[in-house]
Amino acid sequence: MRLSAVILAAGQGTRMKSSLPKVLHPILGKHMACYVLEAVQQVTQSTPVMVIGHGADQVRQALGDQAEFVLQQPQVGTGHAVMQAEPLLVGKADIVLVIYADMPLLTAQTVGSLVELAQSHSGPVSMLTVTTNETRGFGRILRDPRGKVSGIVEEAQATAEQLNIHELNPGVYCFRAAWLWQALKHIPLSPKGEYYLTDLIGMAVAEGADVQSMSVDDPNEVIGINTRVHLAQAEALMRQRINRDWMLQGVSMIDPNSVYIEPGVTLGQDTILWPGTYLHGNTQIGESCIIGPNTIIEDSIIGNSCTLLASVLEGALLEDHVEMGPFCHLRKGAHLCKGVHMGNFGEVKNSTLGTGSKMGHFSYLGDATVGADANIGAGTITCNFDGTHKFPTEIGEGAFIGSDTMLVAPVKVGAGAKTGAGAVVITDIPPHSLAVGVPARVIKELKK
Ligand code: UD1
Ligand code: CA
Repeated sequence: MRLSAVILAAGQGTRMKSSLPKVLHPILGKHMACYVLEAVQQVTQSTPVMVIGHGADQVRQALGDQAEFVLQQPQVGTGHAVMQAEPLLVGKADIVLVIYADMPLLTAQTVGSLVELAQSHSGPVSMLTVTTNETRGFGRILRDPRGKVSGIVEEAQATAEQLNIHELNPGVYCFRAAWLWQALKHIPLSPKGEYYLTDLIGMAVAEGADVQSMSVDDPNEVIGINTRVHLAQAEALMRQRINRDWMLQGVSMIDPNSVYIEPGVTLGQDTILWPGTYLHGNTQIGESCIIGPNTIIEDSIIGNSCTLLASVLEGALLEDHVEMGPFCHLRKGAHLCKGVHMGNFGEVKNSTLGTGSKMGHFSYLGDATVGADANIGAGTITCNFDGTHKFPTEIGEGAFIGSDTMLVAPVKVGAGAKTGAGAVVITDIPPHSLAVGVPARVIKELKK
């Protein structure tokens, strides 16, 4: 049976009180809608159809080719929203999975089980339900005396008695396509002036058709996000889920509640994360590293056995056995080779520090290449920018840069050369020579 998914994302999300469309609010660095999209993609073969309306251009731009978009204008209810997908799917799908874009915690397994249920019987409707005391404004599931689902009543329309029902509608359904396209046309207008998708359930039952339901074990999976309070709850749950997975794969966390790991991050076994560790984007961390406390890493690759204390890394590459911090800042293009030591208050941008080199205290390297085993003295600065252009600095293998040296780029310091404290280097220094002063000049040849 051909299965297609329709994801509803056209609503305004009024309760978010935001100029950003609700489904683009980030959860762990990803748009809310991406989570549902990914869950659905794991279950279906065809590209999901996303119904957009409020902030349509923004949503389309943010999600790109992950979905086929269709516009709902005006946004007059979830039933009306699904109707907009008919032209794209009619004759192409036998079962239509309908899901709301604001449920990021739903797993592909749960969606998959519902699809299996839908394939196992010939009735027009299969749906999820959830039983929980936190009713969150969800529609209530009505059952007949035999216990069969007989309808859904929206909270706003529910009687006092119906409000006491704790079996709720998460908003995930599979419909037989042929039935769906016909039935949508007959949804009555609600007192609020909307066409509720949820009315289809009562309509199917009234026709004497079979409605099958499946209950979700974990109510957290179906938290729908309507407010920023829900958003924070969902993010906390998602974080717990990710942290738990990594712990089960051999990563230690001193205090998992204070560790933030985005979904695109990978970690090696026996790595230890201290509190206040934030791992963003496409970050890969090797085995047996010690990260934090208080370290922020974004889009960086860290080798094995590295120690990073209270530092900030963006777009950096660290080979094995690098030791860093406290208070280092690595910016885009920083490459620290094996065994580099970087002490407090260092900044490195678009530069390579060679194997075993050391940069202990208060230095800035920009657009520089440093050879193996060089020593960058306290307070060394590459003056790489003249206000208009950036220039490179090269420091040879085993060079020893004295404290407070200014390297006015473009400039080269040869292998094994030394600069005196406070030197201002404006011309190249040959290998194995000592240069001192302002401007620096060579005063001595050094032994090789
Ligand atoms: C909906 C369900 C409710 C369920 C709850 C679960 C209906 C009528 N009610 O209520 O039974 O318990 O979800 O979270 O379906 N949307 C559109 N076009 C519209 C209106 C909404 O695309 O015209 C989209 C929204 O962007 C959102 C989803 O549909 O992604 C659900 O809309 P929302 O307003 O959040 O519905 P709820 O009131 O939460
Ligand atoms: Ca909702």
